[in-house]
Amino acid sequence: HRAVVTLTVDDFESAFWPDEQPVDNAVVMTMGALHEGHAALIRAARKQVGRDGRVAVTVFVNPLQFGAGEDLERYPRSLDDDVRLAEANGADVVFAPSVDEVYPNGEPQVRIAAGPMGERYEGATRPGHFDGVLTVVAKLLHITDPDFALFGEKDAQQLAVVRRMVADLDFDVEIVGVPTVREEDGLALSSRNRYLSAEERARALALSGALFAGRDAAARGPKAVREAASAVLDAAEGVDLDYLALIDPHDFTEAPDDFRGEAVLAVAAKVGATRLIDNVHVIVR
Ligand code: PAJ
Repeated sequence: HRAVVTLTVDDFESAFWPDEQPVDNAVVMTMGALHEGHAALIRAARKQVGRDGRVAVTVFVNPLQFGAGEDLERYPRSLDDDVRLAEANGADVVFAPSVDEVYPNGEPQVRIAAGPMGERYEGATRPGHFDGVLTVVAKLLHITDPDFALFGEKDAQQLAVVRRMVADLDFDVEIVGVPTVREEDGLALSSRNRYLSAEERARALALSGALFAGRDAAARGPKAVREAASAVLDAAEGVDLDYLALIDPHDFTEAPDDFRGEAVLAVAAKVGATRLIDNVHVIVR
């Protein structure tokens, strides 16, 4: 396999669909600054389509999903390293279009609306974020036309709204979720971790620590889960909590106190100037 960077949509299509052979195709969409979490998605994509299938990685920092005052300008960019990582993990092609190429008419007037699922949690703090995500995901699905598209569970709400868009709007693609990759000490891998100082990184462990404590309490019901996770965050210094929530993954609403079954325990917090999110699956009894 050889990874190449192509710059036009037409070039990309001939690289991704090189011949008439009916092989499976998978796409991993990213904003670059690739790390082991992205690598796990690329390896899962290769596994999904087999040796003869095609795997594309898209690298595009989508302005539409960043709010005012967010990190669009300083978002880390490392395309050469990204191509190397993509290739080493089994990608056939890297598609890294420019903003002008993805949005040739400037800001799109017609967009995908994520709806109520996109207005809670991440969407409450980042208004319009999921509309921007879904609009670019829809465009990249149309450009790449894959059989499979893989997304990380790290961004649980994103995965949920993408699944919902595909179901509600009849996209002809199978969405595959991939478990979160963590550092050995529990910190979820994120392109934004590189903003953290050593001290902030240590403080950031309160997020995963809280989630693991909540998960450990899952046999005692939703209230116990919330209390156990809150206790860790309350004791943490330098962690500015946005939300901690036990969520019904089907519609991304708050799980009631009598909830039983599979839920998502999610947290978002600022550590210094860096906003971090994380979540774990819990089976509440
Ligand atoms: P980005 O943050 O680059 O993430 C790309 C993909 O990698 C997403 O599906 C994300 O969930 C997954 N990912 C990130 N960190 C992970 C980890 N530690 N373990 C497992 N998977 C991880 O998410 C986006 O980009 C954008 O919103 C995008 C979907 C590309 C649309 O612009």
